[in-house]
Amino acid sequence: MRILAIETSCDETAIALVRASGGLRAPRFEVLKNLVASQIETHRPYGGVVPNLAKREHQKNLPVILRRLNLNKYGGSTSIDLIAVTVGPGLEPCLWTGIEFAKNLAKEIKKPLLGANHMEAHLYSNWLPQGKSHPERKRRISRDSSSALRRTQNDKDIKFPAVALLVSGGHTILLKMDSLVKWKKLGETRDDAAGEAFDKVARLLGLPYPGGPEIEKLAIYGRPTSIDFPRPMINAKNYEFSFSGLKTAVLYYLRDHFNLGTSDVQNIAASFQQAIVDVLVKKTIRAAIQYGSKSVLLSGGVAANRALREQLALGTKRFALRFHVPFFEYNTDNAAMIAAAAYISHLRKKKLRLTAQPNLNL
Ligand code: KG4
Ligand code: ZN
Repeated sequence: MRILAIETSCDETAIALVRASGGLRAPRFEVLKNLVASQIETHRPYGGVVPNLAKREHQKNLPVILRRLNLNKYGGSTSIDLIAVTVGPGLEPCLWTGIEFAKNLAKEIKKPLLGANHMEAHLYSNWLPQGKSHPERKRRISRDSSSALRRTQNDKDIKFPAVALLVSGGHTILLKMDSLVKWKKLGETRDDAAGEAFDKVARLLGLPYPGGPEIEKLAIYGRPTSIDFPRPMINAKNYEFSFSGLKTAVLYYLRDHFNLGTSDVQNIAASFQQAIVDVLVKKTIRAAIQYGSKSVLLSGGVAANRALREQLALGTKRFALRFHVPFFEYNTDNAAMIAAAAYISHLRKKKLRLTAQPNLNL
C-alpha cells in the first residue's frame, strides 16, 4: 500500500510518500519521497524550540512541501491508500497543525486517515531502507564511515528478541522487544532525555541550538578522558537513566574553571559526550545480555551521534549481537518513519484518536 505521511510534532515539517508491503511478518518499505523542512534557523536565536513559532512555520510549510512532493509524478492522489499523521507525543500546537492539515487533505482526496505514535515511528525507522535524498536535505545527510555500520544499516532482517534504545530530544527509553509489535518498557529517563542533556550542555558552552550536533563537532577534537564527569546510574540494577546531574556537573566545572580556551571546550564536549555514551552503551548491552537478545536497535535524534553509533556497534560485536541503526536521514524527525508506524498500526487494526496527544506513551 502507498502511504502519504505527515510529521509536525516539533520543529521539522515533514511529508513522505512510502510504499509498504510484506505484512507483520516481513514488513518492507520503499521510500519514494522524504521531504523535511527544518525550522532550525527560526528557533536558533531563542536557543530552543518556540512552540507558537513552530506552529506558524508548520502552517506555512505544509502546503509548500506537499506541492513540492509533486504527487502527480507518483500517480496522483488516487494512488494513495492511506494518509498518516503524528498525533503524539510532541508539542500540542504543532501536533494540531499536522492533524488539521491531514484531516482536510483526507477529506479533499477522500482517503482514510490514521494517527501515528512518534516514538513508535522512531522505533520502526530501523526498518526503513535508504531513500533517494532530496537536495534540500542533502547537506544534512552523511554516511557512516565504518563499513561494518553500513552493513548493519542495510540489513533489515531484524531478529527477535531484541533490545531497542530510543534516544531523542524528549525521550530516552530502553525496550525489550519480543516481536515487531510486542514489547515491554525496561526503563526510561527520570529527568532529562539524552538529547535534552546535549542541548542544555551546548547552551552552557554557548553553542547554538540544536546542541547535539554542535557538541559532536567539538568532541572530535577533544580528549574524552580529560575530565571525569559522572556516569549517572551506570551501575544501578535497573534500566532507568538520569542525565540532569551530568548537566549540573558540567555547570559546576564551568563555574570553577575560568579563561577556557578552544581546546578546553573541546575536551569538555568530548568528556561530556563520552559520559552519556558510556551510560547508554553499558545499560543497553547489559539489558541485551540479561534478556537473551539476538539484536540491539538504536534510533531517535541522538542516534545520529557517531560516537554512540560506533561504540554501541563495537559493544554489540563483542557479545555477538546483531546491531541495527537507521540511515542518517531517519534519525532526526522525518515522515518516512511515520508512514512505517502507520503501516504497522494499520495491520494491527490499531486506531489512535485523531487529536493532539502531547504525552502519548509508547
Ligand atoms: O528525534 P529528534 O529529531 O526529535 C525528538 O523527537 O525529540 O531528536 C532531536 C534531538 C535533539 O536534542 C538533538 O540535539 C539531538 O537529537 N541530536 C543529537 C545529534 N543530532 C541530533 N545529539 C547528539 N549528537 C548528534 N549528532
Ligand atoms: Zn523525534
